[in-house]
Amino acid sequence: MSDESRPHRTAAVIPAAGRGVRLGPGAPKALRTLGGTPMLIHAVRAMARSRAVSLVVVVAPPDGTATTEVRRLLDEHALPERTEILVVPGGETRQESVRAGLDALPADITAVLIHDAARPLVPVDTVDSVVEAVRDGAPAVVPALPLADTVKEVEPGRPGEPEPVVATPVRARLRAVQTPQGFDLATLRLAHEKLARLSGDGEGATDDAGMVEQLGVTVVVIPGHEEAFKVTRPLDLVLAEAVLARRRATDAY
Ligand code: CTP
Ligand code: MG
Repeated sequence: MSDESRPHRTAAVIPAAGRGVRLGPGAPKALRTLGGTPMLIHAVRAMARSRAVSLVVVVAPPDGTATTEVRRLLDEHALPERTEILVVPGGETRQESVRAGLDALPADITAVLIHDAARPLVPVDTVDSVVEAVRDGAPAVVPALPLADTVKEVEPGRPGEPEPVVATPVRARLRAVQTPQGFDLATLRLAHEKLARLSGDGEGATDDAGMVEQLGVTVVVIPGHEEAFKVTRPLDLVLAEAVLARRRATDAY
């Protein structure tokens, strides 16, 4: 679906509208700090550091005060001048939040990265690799890593009760996917239009590439990075602080 004659302009959409229930009580997850700086600011910087990204759309928690707070934080923190930043309110599910971000993109954008605010420490090399693979013609690109743990498929039971194992997929064929995921914009828009009705209730899609797969479009995986992990539970905050401390000790971050 990419047209060789059109210039590529890449934007990043950062869904940051989640509450962070699994992280425990406190501010919305994207506004929690790491090394004194809100996770969202780390995530915006991670996208803006890529020279290919000229626009970042932040999808903020939908209540008015959080959206105002996000704008204030973006004004307060240093970000590259060449990067344009927009803030839009999110939705009930991640899928709706991504859709709100896509709807805010100007007409000249041809490719888009979708990046979780909850993955604040993704290195710029990973971002650049995703952009490059999209520019080389892949309609959907996902950074991912092999799994450390063996995975069992179970028949889910009541919490705490033993669950029967249904299958053990071959670990060598499995990958844990990360963000930013990169897309030809027309392809991702089509996925959202076609699949919108299926997601009327429940959690919606938690993986953008999964929606494109449902169109029958080939999604490719490229190597992810261990520092692109998602901050989900309290222990992840400990790891994120340790990664930042190591960066500060070893380079001029
Ligand atoms: N997200 C969003 N809008 C939602 C739900 C999630 O923009 N309605 C974003 C989150 O802000 C996060 C990313 O999607 O950056 C990945 O979601 P997840 O890690 O699940 O974050 P939360 O939904 O905030 O956390 P939890 O599921 O523990 O509540
Ligand atoms: Mg969630």
